[in-house]
Amino acid sequence: MINYTEKIPNNVDLGRDRVLQRALEHWQPAYLSWWYDMGPNESHNFEVYLRTAISVEPDGWAQFDYIKMPEYRWGIFLQPRDEKRQVNFGIHKGQPAWQDVPGEYRSILRRIIVTQGDTEPASVEQQKMLGLSCPSLYDLRNIFQVNVEEGRHLWAMVYLLHRYFGRDGREEAESLLARRSGDTDNPRILGAFNEPTPDWLAFYMFTFFTDRDGKFQLCALAESGFDPLARTCRFMLTEEAHHMFVGESGVSRIIQRTCEVMKENKIDAPADVRALGVIDLQTIQRYLNFHYSVTLDLYGSDVSSNAANYYTSGLKGRFRETKLEDDHTLRDAMYPVSEVVGDKINTKQVPALTALNERLRDDYIEEIQAGVNRWQRVIDEAGIPFRLTLPHKGFHREIGNFAGHFISLTGEILTEEQWKAHEFDWLPSPKDYSYVQSLMSGRVAELGKFANWIAPPVKGVNGQPLDFQYVRFN
Ligand SMILES: [Fe+2]
Ligand SMILES: [Fe+2]
Repeated sequence: MINYTEKIPNNVDLGRDRVLQRALEHWQPAYLSWWYDMGPNESHNFEVYLRTAISVEPDGWAQFDYIKMPEYRWGIFLQPRDEKRQVNFGIHKGQPAWQDVPGEYRSILRRIIVTQGDTEPASVEQQKMLGLSCPSLYDLRNIFQVNVEEGRHLWAMVYLLHRYFGRDGREEAESLLARRSGDTDNPRILGAFNEPTPDWLAFYMFTFFTDRDGKFQLCALAESGFDPLARTCRFMLTEEAHHMFVGESGVSRIIQRTCEVMKENKIDAPADVRALGVIDLQTIQRYLNFHYSVTLDLYGSDVSSNAANYYTSGLKGRFRETKLEDDHTLRDAMYPVSEVVGDKINTKQVPALTALNERLRDDYIEEIQAGVNRWQRVIDEAGIPFRLTLPHKGFHREIGNFAGHFISLTGEILTEEQWKAHEFDWLPSPKDYSYVQSLMSGRVAELGKFANWIAPPVKGVNGQPLDFQYVRFN
């Protein structure tokens, strides 16, 4: 169970470590001032129907109640320790899982934790303004839930930094509050977390595509031989599932509404669809292309000696490592990666150890494809002949073997001029963004009401009706 009587709720017996407790109590006001500054705009006095963790068991960990977000019980929750757990891969396979940071891996581990930690406040910053244009109280509550949980994910990583990395860790924890998404001087570490999230379609795409990258990274770290990291990631994953639900169902509801309007009015030209105040499927496809390609870059280079190192050292595993049936050292295994040679894309076999980024990206793509298939079903059920497709893996990439090449949606290698001529057939144009934003000029806040461009969800939150007062504005 989680102890909420302490200033910092936790299930790690924080009260017994006075030095750590003081260090975190020192960081807490800095965190809150970051929240007041960069958290959801003008929301600090709202009472929001939020879930809070009451236990770390996978079932029934949440309690729902109205809470002002600055008073959310951010805290430190780790999955309980399994005394028998071992390092399950790499050269230390079979050793007891580490309860402390092995000296030789200290700086790599710190880097891994900081890179993960940096994404959490970044997404809150990216979504800061969206509450002002929400399509309903239900959706407003959902974005706030995502935001407070990303704040808690930051807490999770900061705990590890404070607890296991001494002064360096404390300095890194301060820097996590100092960087800003999109800032020219002090940006967030990873590219996708510096892109703006300018509207609700972008928000749902982000939570579908980019929070799912979060899931895969957390899954790989949940396999770590460094047990406290594994345990904290396991609990974070239970929160991540909700973020991806918000994204997938959000896009699905937008598609559904567009299809309803197309069917009712027997129209299919994008201009006619827009004239009725919904988002044309072509624009949805362009947003999809953008978020997919930008998120693929987050997995890093196709061939990476760092990735090999992380694995061999037992720090970062594969997706579902312990369920895989092989030697868990990958000594002789090979894995296919793509590369551009002249005017062709070739596949070549490389040592699987060096291709772990690519492998995680491929696992991710498989799950993404299944989600896109579910969106497609909404279109098919409406009887509309439109296909949503994932772009070629090399499309619009800035990291890895495709970087610097101009690859079309379907995987042809083009010249820069040829590619540029199609840029806004494939990616959202300034006009697309301004159209989408024109639909979202204000907040829809009447009970049970939804903006015209999105269908209501199938059900409310925690068994509540759709016309429930999910947010009280005071
Ligand atoms: Fe997160
Ligand atoms: Fe998330």
